[in-house]
Amino acid sequence: MLAVTCVSQSADDPLSGLEVGQRPEPTVPEDWTTVRLRTAALNHHDVWSLRGVGLPADRLPMVLGCDGAGIAEDGSEVVVHAVVASPGWTGDETLDPRRSLLSEVHDGTLAEVVAVPRGNVVPKPAGLSWESAACLPTAWLTAYRMLFTNAGVQPGATVLVQGAAGGVATALVQLGRAAGLRMWVTSRDAARGEAAVALGADRAFENGARLPERVDAVMETVGAATWSHSVNALRPGGTIVISGATSGDAPAKAELTKIFFKQLRVVGSTMGTRDELERLTRFVVDAGIEPQVDSVLPLADARDGFARMVDGQVSGKVVFTV
Ligand SMILES: NC(=O)c1ccc[n+]([C@@H]2O[C@H](COP(=O)([O-])OP(=O)(O)OC[C@H]3O[C@@H](n4cnc5c(N)ncnc54)[C@H](OP(=O)(O)O)[C@@H]3O)[C@@H](O)[C@H]2O)c1
Repeated sequence: MLAVTCVSQSADDPLSGLEVGQRPEPTVPEDWTTVRLRTAALNHHDVWSLRGVGLPADRLPMVLGCDGAGIAEDGSEVVVHAVVASPGWTGDETLDPRRSLLSEVHDGTLAEVVAVPRGNVVPKPAGLSWESAACLPTAWLTAYRMLFTNAGVQPGATVLVQGAAGGVATALVQLGRAAGLRMWVTSRDAARGEAAVALGADRAFENGARLPERVDAVMETVGAATWSHSVNALRPGGTIVISGATSGDAPAKAELTKIFFKQLRVVGSTMGTRDELERLTRFVVDAGIEPQVDSVLPLADARDGFARMVDGQVSGKVVFTV
């Protein structure tokens, strides 16, 4: 089958270890099933894997990809859930210390076929396009849990998103807007900030800008480059939800004093549960949300999409048709 595979890793030249070509179809463990993919999508996670972060070298070659939608063995249309719990785990699978994401232990979704545990698919609603469906399992699910499970905000609250154009950032803007939250963004680039406003953000600011008022919650995925701004932007008692550190995880200042003095909550957030993914698919359809898509490419041209992400050019999701 055609697949996008990580064959070697380089922190400085991630594309050097990317191979787009033929791979054997995945072996299917007992109690697992297969999905024939129609669409898949790219995440920063795939770039981290190529850089050698989160994917040990002894597991290579590994088919990349956490996002996908396709046809299940029974012929139904499904969205793939990428969080694989350990055997026997019950409850919130994101809290399973032995969980993995597709492409960390088991081959991922940037392929014609993916094998997943039987419970790791949710029905694709009829009103959800294949392109939109591919966007949801990782960046959008992460944004959903950040906003609706972990931020503790109510409609009318002001939420600052650090970053404007990325997959998680655009999902936060579109979901927050649909839920009646006032979404503010920061960006390294004014045009990308304006694009976020066109997508539904209330205001856009340059990175580090002084805001007109303090916000109720900050959605943080940029990390070191924006951490101090996130702490300073919050009202007393506000919440930072952090799910990523694209610019690094060692900020120049940890801001411990401000965190305790302002009684801030710092909440880690990772992916989401299968139930949250099912609710997300329904919400996207019912609210008429069309996830922001940067580009749609045939899987054979996946390298071009990876290059856009490595260069920081992506606005929304890069979708692959299989
Ligand atoms: N914990 C989880 O479950 C989970 C799930 C999904 C993603 N993540 C993590 O979240 C991060 C974003 O993922 P993604 O797929 O959305 O990536 P992406 O599409 O490549 O987006 C990158 C985002 O970061 C901003 N950015 C990058 N470098 C920056 C810098 N130096 N200063 C300021 N802003 C910067 C960009 O904003 P502008 O270009 O507008 O400035 C953009 O919004 C990644 O680190 C990823 O690993 C974690």
